[in-house]
Amino acid sequence: MYRCTLLLCLSLGALVKCAAGSDWCYSGCEYSPTHWHEIPHSSCGGNRQSPIDIVTSHVKMDPHLDNFTFVNFSSQRVIKNIINTGHTVKCNLENDQVELSGGGLNGLYSTIQFHFHWGDTKHHPGSEHTVDGHRYSMEMHIVSLKTGLSVEEALNDPEGIAVLGFFINATEDGDMFGPWDSLTSYLVNLTDTDVTLHNISIDDLIGNVDRTRFYRYNGSLTTPNCSEAVVWTVFHEPINVNKKLIERFPVHMKVTNVYRPVQDLGTRHVFASPATPLPPGHSWCYDDHCEYSPSQWHLLPDSQCGGESQSPINIDTKHIVVDEHLDSLHLYKV
Ligand SMILES: *[C@@H]1O[C@H](CO)[C@@H](O)[C@H](O)[C@H]1NC(C)=O
Ligand SMILES: *[C@@H]1O[C@H](CO)[C@@H](O)[C@H](O)[C@H]1NC(C)=O
Ligand SMILES: *[C@@H]1O[C@H](CO)[C@@H](O)[C@H](O)[C@H]1NC(C)=O
Ligand SMILES: *[C@@H]1O[C@H](CO)[C@@H](O)[C@H](O)[C@H]1NC(C)=O
Ligand SMILES: *[C@@H]1O[C@H](CO)[C@@H](O)[C@H](O)[C@H]1NC(C)=O
Ligand SMILES: *[C@@H]1O[C@H](CO)[C@@H](O)[C@H](O)[C@H]1NC(C)=O
Ligand SMILES: *[C@@H]1O[C@H](CO)[C@@H](O)[C@H](O)[C@H]1NC(C)=O
Repeated sequence: MYRCTLLLCLSLGALVKCAAGSDWCYSGCEYSPTHWHEIPHSSCGGNRQSPIDIVTSHVKMDPHLDNFTFVNFSSQRVIKNIINTGHTVKCNLENDQVELSGGGLNGLYSTIQFHFHWGDTKHHPGSEHTVDGHRYSMEMHIVSLKTGLSVEEALNDPEGIAVLGFFINATEDGDMFGPWDSLTSYLVNLTDTDVTLHNISIDDLIGNVDRTRFYRYNGSLTTPNCSEAVVWTVFHEPINVNKKLIERFPVHMKVTNVYRPVQDLGTRHVFASPATPLPPGHSWCYDDHCEYSPSQWHLLPDSQCGGESQSPINIDTKHIVVDEHLDSLHLYKV
């Protein structure tokens, strides 16, 4: 099927559009995920692929993962349009208005679009990343390119693209109005032509998720051709959305289970920002073969190690003061 269409595309002189791909799928076609690596010029068989399962007991804290700076995420005028791509629903942003930096990223990134991954109408969850094997209902991806790079250049740079991944958790009784109702009301009869989207900001959708708690690893795009150009940020806290609104994605978009299975981590590591809660017991040590070496103990959750009265100390005998109340110590048997 793919090959036939490729020939058709060649004859139409539209190779780029064709190779960019509408012939892959999540199930029910020749190029389903286990065959994506066979797509010409694809990186889908590489060794830094996404998504992954985040195993929290193996995650290492990285003190360099500082706070993000978001520019115009709160603006209700930067979402240019919403379209049905056939694989997902995508919101394009106005050019050069929305920016991302900090969070341990190397420089400034220009945010261009966000889109979604979901499961099916029977509440089978459809996030791409999983945490300790848990799959959330949905996942939102906010995509940014390193500023100054074209799309083609970004795809060929190991840090060319930064994606922010937010889990979406289905609740029984969440808000049925507000930004998620507004967004999903556009899904009815949505096509691949531009529909303008007003009065919603990216911050409105993210809500009160703690953006200082996140995981970081090097990976890829999660759709063909799976370019290994992505610095991934996956936030620890999910966005809670009423399950009736989540249902609108599979119902109105008429595609289900639009997520790629998790890929091998291989030799890669997943890091976490200092505020991210990690499982206890594995975390501190005396050398530097763990998440928290002594110089980082003050970053441990609920730690007092950065206090003013810490032990041990060096006892400098030249500067001791005699205290008469300190008489001799008696030891009693009990
Ligand atoms: C990061 O953000 C958090 C919450 O917004 C804030 O409490 C903290 O002080 C910030 N850290 C730095 C280094 O600015
Ligand atoms: C984006 O942010 C800049 C600077 O913060 C501001 O001047 C500009 O008006 C913003 N654009 C929109 C559409 O809000
Ligand atoms: C997800 O939603 C369920 C059901 O409302 C709730 O019990 C759970 O605490 C939520 N999970 C998170 C991580 O917020
Ligand atoms: C969606 O399309 C169907 C069938 O074409 C039509 O009956 C319905 O009125 C449309 N709904 C909206 C909200 O436009
Ligand atoms: C957007 O909000 C403004 C002010 O709140 C309002 O005047 C306008 O009608 C709204 N536009 C849409 C499309 O809802
Ligand atoms: C990602 O790879 C770069 C080298 O290309 C490396 O410097 C960086 O530490 C890696 N980041 C993570 C989170 O593994
Ligand atoms: C496939 O990926 C490579 C780099 O990963 C890129 O240079 C190439 O243009 C991509 N092809 C298409 C059709 O997107």
